[in-house]
Amino acid sequence: MGKNRETFGSRMGMLLAMAGSAIGLGNIWRFPYTLGENGGAAFLLLYVLMLVFICLPVMISEYLLGRRGESNPFRTFRNLAPGSKWYWIGWSLKYLANAVTGSLMSYGADYGDYFQAFISNPWKPLLYTMMFLGLTGLIIALGVRKGIERMSKIMIGVLFVIIVLVVIRSLTLPGALEGVKYMFVPDFSKVTAQTCIAAMGQAFFSLSIGCGCILTYASYVDKKENIAGSAGWIAFFDTGFAVIAGLAIIPAVYAIALMNGADPNVDAGPGLVFITLPGVFKAMPLGGVAALLFFTALLLAAITSAISLMEVVVAFIIEELHKSRAVAVVLCFILCGVVGMFCSLSFGPLKEMSLFGLSVFDFFDYITSNIMLPVGGLLLAVFAGWKLKKANYMDELTNGGTLGIPRWLAMTVFYLVKFVAPIAISVIFLNCILG
Ligand code: PFF
Repeated sequence: MGKNRETFGSRMGMLLAMAGSAIGLGNIWRFPYTLGENGGAAFLLLYVLMLVFICLPVMISEYLLGRRGESNPFRTFRNLAPGSKWYWIGWSLKYLANAVTGSLMSYGADYGDYFQAFISNPWKPLLYTMMFLGLTGLIIALGVRKGIERMSKIMIGVLFVIIVLVVIRSLTLPGALEGVKYMFVPDFSKVTAQTCIAAMGQAFFSLSIGCGCILTYASYVDKKENIAGSAGWIAFFDTGFAVIAGLAIIPAVYAIALMNGADPNVDAGPGLVFITLPGVFKAMPLGGVAALLFFTALLLAAITSAISLMEVVVAFIIEELHKSRAVAVVLCFILCGVVGMFCSLSFGPLKEMSLFGLSVFDFFDYITSNIMLPVGGLLLAVFAGWKLKKANYMDELTNGGTLGIPRWLAMTVFYLVKFVAPIAISVIFLNCILG
């Protein structure tokens, strides 16, 4: 660790900042619809298996590389993955704003049209994207302890309380139990190779592995910290939160569908949160309050993840280009702002613009989710398993043998990273590219 690097102030702050990176749109937006598309409980079970045996070892390795910090992490992971997700985040802010003013609930027509009208608007997606980026930048400008750590602590705390309130609303609707069963009673006839791949891809995305976020945060962590223990806690918080978010959404979707004699639309895909759910809130008692809470939760979750993404670039600019934190934030804002501008307008004024046959939005979504994330994860696993000396890996994992981690456990983690993870990630990658 460099002499002048800032560090986290407390273990709890560090864990919550890392959990803040992991808990995000992946939990509240992507997890429920991926679960819905892949048959519910059986997917959940596979998800946990993939998480424990593949993703957690890779996460431990990213953490370990970051803390060890002898190879400059920013040179390896300086690609612009952070620029990619801002536009969804802008959407979440817009939905929250409309939930506050009440216009979301009073909308009379189909929410598919509502969503379409918003994303194709000539300036609104841009406005919300920039506001979101600005907010993220302000928090980062305050520094590791006062900005990232303090804000993550507050936001994750509030987020948890809010989502639990939405879960209570969802579970107390008549018919909600059907949705709970869908989440927890597995139907193995639905499991295919594709389900396994979806579960693994989701677990990688959800733990923020492969973009340098964990690596960057880990470089602010104390040398005495138990890496495997903290990574385990973060994965536990993240998975617990995904299940809670599922419980906020899926039972409600079931209950309202039953009430209307319609099909529960849990396999609605990416539109589940932005299109199906507003309709569900509208139909339920106290739905306006639930919508307000839900979209606040979505925004908070998105911000804490965005902070971690932006910090990767900011830390790179500070250390490699020797700029102050404030200047780094401004540069990063401009960079992300330009990419975000093209992305957020790509359903409206820039609809005709295309890169390699894809709209700007789809292009960035594709290269970041399908290429940069798996390639980042693969490089990381290969680096940790093959380039770093095994003795150094063990040394870092056990803090020089002082932690009393059983040797068989440390070896298992190492070999999972060395052999199993690279193969598994290559499979997801090839599937995404060829599929
Ligand atoms: N883990 C975040 C989520 O689940 O929403 C998304 C994410 C953040 C992915 C940061 C990758 C990353 F580097």
